[in-house]
Amino acid sequence: MTTARTGYSAGELTVHRSPAELNKITKALRNAGRRIVFVPTMGALHEGHRELIRHARRAPGSVVPVVSIFVNPLQFGPNEDLDRYPRPLEADLTACREEGVELAFVPGVEDMYPQGAQVTVQPGELGSKLEGAVREGHFGGVLTVVAKLFHIVAPDVAFFGEKDYQQLVLIKRMVRDLDFPVHVVGVPTVREPDGLALSSRNAYLSPEQRAKAPVLYRALQAGASVSAQGPEAVLAAARAVLDQEPALEVEYLELTDSDLGPPRVGEPGRLLVAARLGTTRLIDNVPVAL
Ligand code: PAJ
Repeated sequence: MTTARTGYSAGELTVHRSPAELNKITKALRNAGRRIVFVPTMGALHEGHRELIRHARRAPGSVVPVVSIFVNPLQFGPNEDLDRYPRPLEADLTACREEGVELAFVPGVEDMYPQGAQVTVQPGELGSKLEGAVREGHFGGVLTVVAKLFHIVAPDVAFFGEKDYQQLVLIKRMVRDLDFPVHVVGVPTVREPDGLALSSRNAYLSPEQRAKAPVLYRALQAGASVSAQGPEAVLAAARAVLDQEPALEVEYLELTDSDLGPPRVGEPGRLLVAARLGTTRLIDNVPVAL
C-alpha cells in the first residue's frame, strides 16, 4: 500500500495495517485526553458511510476520527458476494481524507485472523431471525469482527447505520451483555432522492432493477403512514405496495418493537423488509410510531 505510513500526525490521515500498531496509537491519544470516535466499514464508501463519519466528527470533545476498512470473510455465507465485493481502496482513502478522518485501519485477513477464528461471539436468539434466518452465521461473523475492532481501536464512541437495523440492535446488545466500554450511536439511513437506501450492493442492480428498487421504501412509507390504525393495517398497507412489483421477491416484511421484539402499541416500532431483485438482496427499514 503506497499510502501506508506509520506514526500519527494530527489533522492528517495515516493508514495502518497492524492491529498492535493502531492500538498503541489510539491508546496514547486517549491517555492524552482525546476521544476516539470510530466508524467500522467494509469500504466502498458512499454518502451513507460519509454521514456516519460526519456524525462522529460532531461528537463532543477533542475527537480523533477513526475508520476501519475490512471486508470481513467471517460474515459472508458460502454463496454470497465475498469475492466480488468492491474494494476501491484508493478512492476510500480519498473519501476518508475529504471527511477529516485521522486514522484509517486497513488490515488484511491475515492481520485480523492470523490463526483463523476458533473462538467467536455468538448473537443468541436475535441472531437467527430476520436477516439471520436467511444468512446463517452472518451475525456471529459481524459480532466477532466488531468485538475485535472494539478491542483494537478502543473507541469511546462507535457509529453504526440504522440501514442495517438488526446489526445495530445486536451490537448494542453485545456491548451491554459483554461490558464493552463503548457508547454505540445509531445514525438514520441516507437515501437516494427516489428513496432507495444507499448501499454498496446497489451497484449490482441493472438499470431496470435500479428503477424498480425504490418500491421497498415506498412500501415502508405506506405502512408507516397508517400506523395509527394498528400493526395489521401497517403490514397490509406495506404489502399492498410490494405486491404491485412482480419482479420483487419478498423474503420478509415484519413489524417489531425497536428492539426487534413483538410490536407493542404505544411504543416505538420498526418496519423491516428484505427482498430480492434478480440475484441482488435489498434490505430497508423505517421507524413506525405505533
Ligand atoms: P458496511 O456495509 O460497509 O457498513 C458500514 C456502516 O455503514 C454500517 O454501520 C452501516 O449500517 C452503515 N451504512 C451503510 N449504508 C448506509 C446508509 N445508506 N445510511 C446510513 N448508514 C449506512 O455494516 C458493515 O459494513 C459491516 O457489517 C461491519 C459493521 C463493518 C462489520 O464488518
